[in-house]
Amino acid sequence: MLICTAILNMSTNNTDSSAIKRIGVLTSGGDAPGMNAAIRAVVRSCAYYKIQCFGIKRGYQGMIAGDISRLGPRSVNNIINKGGTILKSARSDEFRTKEGRKKAFEQLIEHEIQGLVVIGGDGSFTGGMIFQKEFGIPVMGIPGTIDNDIYGTSHTLGYDTALNTVVEAVDKIRDTAISHNRLFFVEVMGRDAGHIALNTGIGAGAEEILIPEEDMGLDRLLQSLKRSKKSGKLSSIVMVAEGDKIGKNVFQLAEYIEENLPDYEVRVSVLGHMQRGGAPSCFDRVLASRMGLKAVEALRDGISANMIGISDGKMIFTPLDKAIKGESTINRDLVRVSEIMRL
Ligand code: F6P
Repeated sequence: MLICTAILNMSTNNTDSSAIKRIGVLTSGGDAPGMNAAIRAVVRSCAYYKIQCFGIKRGYQGMIAGDISRLGPRSVNNIINKGGTILKSARSDEFRTKEGRKKAFEQLIEHEIQGLVVIGGDGSFTGGMIFQKEFGIPVMGIPGTIDNDIYGTSHTLGYDTALNTVVEAVDKIRDTAISHNRLFFVEVMGRDAGHIALNTGIGAGAEEILIPEEDMGLDRLLQSLKRSKKSGKLSSIVMVAEGDKIGKNVFQLAEYIEENLPDYEVRVSVLGHMQRGGAPSCFDRVLASRMGLKAVEALRDGISANMIGISDGKMIFTPLDKAIKGESTINRDLVRVSEIMRL
């Protein structure tokens, strides 16, 4: 009975006097698990508030081309559990030009779209912010990238799923490492940030974790691996963030260690794009649902040029220019934990 009343209240509260009647949603930059759940959340929140929602295909490129179509609540059935993005994603060079953005604006005018939800990373937000400044179309950002390298949120969409994917993969690599007494260098994504390497390094029990934020130096790495070998370890995992600066690349790094630590048989495993795929974790699905709803509500309330983030379990706003310029720092506590756990 209580539930029935709540639903009744919900459906009667959504008669809306807000000015915004049509919202467009797009995904841009690298895909991330949870993007589909966020699209679904935007579409259904729009339906709830009686706003017409439009899906824009291939990010800003599709906006320029007018690849725009109506999305009703039934068009996002059965996508909450899907990786990738049904709207597809692209990086648009044309949108970097004023003429490109003007074409995009004309398409929005033609479809009478009055606000945009951009799901992507800082490059996507930069485009959105410039677009809003030039043409006055309100933009709200939802951070979607597995790298978790965006200021203004403790978690980006896809990060949690990627962590679980990496840990599962490294657990499997460990089986071979143990069976053959090998030292494995595992490269994970993170062009500019070590969040994935640091967290999965701890989660998968890595001996060393190499991240762009800290340069431990080749020599210290070698000494540390020698020490662990001496202490009785027969196999080890070294987690390397893609953006780490200690070696030129993970293969050269492994070669150097093999030459200087001949007791170990060394192998390299680059996990690559498999980290960006797969079904989103429950955490990412819930986060996407909350962020999608919040983005629509913000546009309705006249809030724009902001990104939705999560902090201490609560939804927060960060102005897009701050989200773009701000630095997402690694958790120093975790560095300490990893150092002690390797003993
Ligand atoms: O999504 C960010 C990221 O995962 C980076 O860590 C990585 O360097 C990059 O994507 C790879 O992107 P692309 O798909 O263009 O090769």
